[in-house]
Amino acid sequence: MKVKIKVPATSANLGPGFDVAGLALTLYNTFTFELNDGGLHISGCPTQFCNEDNLTYQAFKEAAKYCGLEYQGVNIDCVSQVPYTRGLGSSSTCIVAGIVGAFAFKDKAEDRQEILELATKMEGHPDNVAPAIFGGLTVSVMEKNNVLTLNIPVKHEYRFVTLIPPFTLSTEQSRKVLPQTLDRQDAVKNVSHLALVVASLINGYDEGLKLGFKDKLHQPYRGGLIKGYDEIMDVLEQDKDVLGCYLSGAGPTLMAVIKEEDKMGVVRIKEELGALLNDWDVVKLELDQRGYTCDYE
Ligand code: HSE
Repeated sequence: MKVKIKVPATSANLGPGFDVAGLALTLYNTFTFELNDGGLHISGCPTQFCNEDNLTYQAFKEAAKYCGLEYQGVNIDCVSQVPYTRGLGSSSTCIVAGIVGAFAFKDKAEDRQEILELATKMEGHPDNVAPAIFGGLTVSVMEKNNVLTLNIPVKHEYRFVTLIPPFTLSTEQSRKVLPQTLDRQDAVKNVSHLALVVASLINGYDEGLKLGFKDKLHQPYRGGLIKGYDEIMDVLEQDKDVLGCYLSGAGPTLMAVIKEEDKMGVVRIKEELGALLNDWDVVKLELDQRGYTCDYE
């Protein structure tokens, strides 16, 4: 029996919701697991990841121990659409797939809350793994070892113009530049802006997004790590049909939100940004509403 798991890319933080908010996107990594008589065989990813340190395998191993799955060996095949180390949750897809893979052989592939708790422990924060598990737009609260995740119903059909640079930025490096403490006024701004983003999305108050996506906790510090960040964000801010823009996760991908009816949005944004987008990929994505799927073959 083979288990095939498809996990969506995610875009975390949504500006002020650092380590709290995230959304799932219609771009996927797919992993197929098959137990074997001995040994680890990984295919479909660069050779430097085809070993015991592979994140998907690490998550599988940990989850197998947790749920009491006994196995001699495993084959893992990966088909990747989500670019690696770009702020689109590729590591979360690996962690979630590894856990669901092990759980599936114990008939536990739909135990999403348990999968969330384990995945958050492995990832360190819930904002990417939660939407990868539940789909849609999620906010998560951590209390000791428990994670509470809620889906936010988004009123309008939005499209997410995903601007992916040709260079990578590791989450570790991107977290290192953040300050340890925050000024009280800045903290109040972040709280109010996240509330504005959430309320705007629920009520369909599109005018709230541009201001809501601004934050004081991470984007101003991380922008300096991304070539062209200020210029690109300025151009996006001036486009009256871009509802708002933010740094996706730890970066370096940038996200511009447009309405579904703005059919020319991608073409227009590319034209406006011109040479600033040298070698960047621009992809229009939608909200994934399902989270991971698991099929048996
Ligand atoms: N909330 C995380 C961060 C997302 O911004 O560092 C990336 O893992």
